[in-house]
Amino acid sequence: MSFRQELEKRRTFGIISHPDAGKTTLTEKLLLFGGAIQVAGAVKSNKIKRGATSDFMEIERQRGISVATSVMAFDYAEKRINILDTPGHQDFAEDTYRTLTAVDSAIVVIDVAKGVEEQTEKLVNVCKDRKTPMIVFINKLDREGLDGIDLLDELEDKLGMKVCPMSWPIGMGQRLKGIYDIYNGTLPLFRPHGKQEEDETVFIEDLDSDELEKQVGESAAEELRSEVEIIQTVYPDFDLEAYRKGELQPVFFGSAINNFGVKELLDCFVKIAPTPQARPTDKRIVEPDEDDFTGFVFKIHANMDPRHRDRIAFLRVCSGVFERNTNYHHVRLARNLKFSNPTAFMAEKKSIVDQSYPGDIVGLHDTGNFKIGDTLTTGEDLTFIGIPTFSPEQFRYVVNKDPMKTKQLDKGLDQLMDEGVAQLFTKIDNNRKIIGTVGVLQFEVIQYRLEHEYGAKVDYEPISLYKACWVKSDDPDALKEFEKRRKNNLALDKKGQLVFLAESQWALERVEEAHQNIKFFFKSEI
Ligand code: G4P
Repeated sequence: MSFRQELEKRRTFGIISHPDAGKTTLTEKLLLFGGAIQVAGAVKSNKIKRGATSDFMEIERQRGISVATSVMAFDYAEKRINILDTPGHQDFAEDTYRTLTAVDSAIVVIDVAKGVEEQTEKLVNVCKDRKTPMIVFINKLDREGLDGIDLLDELEDKLGMKVCPMSWPIGMGQRLKGIYDIYNGTLPLFRPHGKQEEDETVFIEDLDSDELEKQVGESAAEELRSEVEIIQTVYPDFDLEAYRKGELQPVFFGSAINNFGVKELLDCFVKIAPTPQARPTDKRIVEPDEDDFTGFVFKIHANMDPRHRDRIAFLRVCSGVFERNTNYHHVRLARNLKFSNPTAFMAEKKSIVDQSYPGDIVGLHDTGNFKIGDTLTTGEDLTFIGIPTFSPEQFRYVVNKDPMKTKQLDKGLDQLMDEGVAQLFTKIDNNRKIIGTVGVLQFEVIQYRLEHEYGAKVDYEPISLYKACWVKSDDPDALKEFEKRRKNNLALDKKGQLVFLAESQWALERVEEAHQNIKFFFKSEI
């Protein structure tokens, strides 16, 4: 197969959802369709169960699982589909944001009973910022939930989507009779628990035909007709270009656990989802069909075993062909590196690959050369941009409990931050170190890993902060004045960028008022 054919075969996407909406279940059904797994239950959830906050065995076990399911590739309809897993636990949201920089599209799963939830909102906003094409799957139609039209309103109001329903349910919960595929005019009837046979699909050529009454009964038929009429007048027709630009979001309904509505979603996905897309760098846009290989690291997974402190760096191939045992240019280190065992992920299996194409994810064994955002090329000096870092939500001072191990502590902190576990800020006035995380879980992970992997013991001291804001100004005098007056609240991040540590929203607003020439950002880019 030629390079161009390989490239055009690839579809790389991520599934995003609030925990428990059904991401793992949907992933598994998609893999079953691709024949990548044979039995339900093969894909373990990588979510850290609620209440597991201090259970390190659990965290470790889950981390092991999440390596195995970080990338799941399968073939379907002559396409190579790469699903990038995103951690469901919100304490690891930052990891999810970074993974979204490596996808070309996303599927958003929503629980029909819960509607748009907090985590969905945050993740969809990241996709919107990047103009990532999204398809929505409204799940758990076998249960009672919100009215379909109300849900579409919610997608528009809360997520700012422009929706285009591609299918429509007939009833819900106990009354679920089927899901009408608006675009193909087919009506798969609902048989619970995945006993949906292909030949059970009823083809309704015309919604006005009597066949509809025969299949679903009079009142359900009437209801469907009137709802479909409303939908077709209110919502726009599907427009491929608008979807690809991230301006229109097709919506499907179904029940992942019953494998209902999933095939329709997958069949549509392979038809409309984009092939590997161009990506911006600090120098120029890199097109996927360029001859020379380029790629970037979006995730680093460390082995928590102190005897093998190795890590896997996950690299997204952006252009050209990545080949095993070939020298590539590590742009940040200005060094050549060669990889003898690059790994590809097919469903739950890992294997060594000789060649990978744009859209593919390669696992590289790493002994400390990589940090998130690092770029590999065939020689050109360019760095992929746009990997976001958000202000942490939780902050604590780090206290070194064993001054003899300061070196180990510094090294440990340095490497953990490179992996993107948390962010480190050093206060300008007293040089104290503050760790910032999205959730409290990471503090325990860091403490545990520093001790077990680096032999350094730390404690934390509380610090009450609201946000860390990256500050910028075009006016050097205003910046100088700001630095002088707010010294006690300023710190440097790991890249040496100036950060204002706001104690409360109110305090931030006052400071913004007092320093009008300074801009404050809750987000930075690697
Ligand atoms: P997540 O990865 O998004 O966190 O969600 P996951 O797939 O683990 O699903 C969360 C729960 O919702 C699971 O139940 C799962 O079985 C259930 N679920 C998924 N899809 C459907 C659906 O279409 N209908 C219904 N009724 N339930 C669905 P659980 O009890 O938390 O876990 P489990 O014991 O079943 O694994």
